[in-house]
Amino acid sequence: MLWAARVSGFFSAAMLMVVLSPSLQSFPPAEAIRSSQFDSHVRFPSHIAGGARGLAFRRASAFRNAADCSNTTGNVCDPSFVHIAITLDEDYLRGSVAAVHSVVQHAMCPESIFFHFLVSDPALGDLVSAVFPQLQFNVYYFDPDRVRGLISSSVRQALEQPLNYARNYLADLLEPCVRRVIYLDSDLVLVDDVTKLWRTDLGRRTVGAPEYCHANFSKYFTDRFWSDKQFVETFTGRRPCYFNTGVMMLDLARWRRKGYTRRIERWMEIQKSPAGRIYELGSLPPFLLVFAGHVAPIEHRWNQHGLGGDNVFGSCRDLHPGPVSLLHWSGSGKPWARLGAGRPCPLDALWAPFDLYDPAASAAEWSR
Ligand SMILES: *[C@@H]1O[C@H](CO)[C@@H](O)[C@H](O)[C@H]1NC(C)=O
Ligand SMILES: *[C@@H]1O[C@H](CO)[C@@H](O)[C@H](O)[C@H]1NC(C)=O
Repeated sequence: MLWAARVSGFFSAAMLMVVLSPSLQSFPPAEAIRSSQFDSHVRFPSHIAGGARGLAFRRASAFRNAADCSNTTGNVCDPSFVHIAITLDEDYLRGSVAAVHSVVQHAMCPESIFFHFLVSDPALGDLVSAVFPQLQFNVYYFDPDRVRGLISSSVRQALEQPLNYARNYLADLLEPCVRRVIYLDSDLVLVDDVTKLWRTDLGRRTVGAPEYCHANFSKYFTDRFWSDKQFVETFTGRRPCYFNTGVMMLDLARWRRKGYTRRIERWMEIQKSPAGRIYELGSLPPFLLVFAGHVAPIEHRWNQHGLGGDNVFGSCRDLHPGPVSLLHWSGSGKPWARLGAGRPCPLDALWAPFDLYDPAASAAEWSR
């Protein structure tokens, strides 16, 4: 919380709140009155919103498991849970909320999903329970000081947010009984049942992800890297391919046994050493260094990435050929920003149905 206050520099007058959605009408009124979660306005401390931005969200519709789903106990260690980890921060909040919404809407067994939210401000957990009253989740504070000394300062700023590195620490942050987790970025939506992804067999691999062996792998590393025999030897005996770290299945039990967190940190230390950079972009290259060539391949349908395009308005991307289970707006353009600016790309229309942001309520809050 202190950190959030420090980076935003001042407490803004704007507030986060949740307004009552019409979808709530599916709840019996008596229950609605009993539960304090059903107050029509749930307000959050002003410092969360950051800057002078007011954000209000509608409450998601109720969801229920299908009859043949296994019944979960509510204990995070229940072995029948599907585990999903996702970050929540003020900048990508609208995206994270839409991602969660898309997951529960497409799941046959939404009550059997356990979410793990990595946050820069623990109060964001209150927002999640107000928007998704039924959601089973835990909140984990990620201390930015854990990576501050390991992050380089000279690359694109968005890629150097400390929370981007929280995925490196899932094995430490999550409960030891959580042996496997799906990590999802905040700029994506699922259009299929996440349980199908969860059933992917990783074999003896630690990381599962769609691989792209035609992508130019060498461009992620600098000349200093490629000219150092010792560095290059790290890839000896493997066929390294690019993979996107925005959608990954992680075998946390194996990760803990093999100490991969430390291996990733060692590459980050080399990157920060005075001898010069060995790679360009943020949190991805250390994953490539440790895991590329040892990844369990996941069907490409689970990461149709690149839909964000670049900074230039109008540079819209199309889907890759083949079936689609997950749409990922990686790249610098985000659907919520383009929709807000009234200049969306055609595919942004596929993100919009999962958006729970309420512009009218946000505007009302703005003018208070
Ligand atoms: C789960 O619980 C419900 C309600 O108690 C019950 O009807 C259903 O048969 C149970 N499902 C399983 C797979 O045990
Ligand atoms: C791959 O990227 C490197 C570094 O940017 C470049 O020098 C090389 O020509 C590229 N290779 C191909 C086949 O495009």
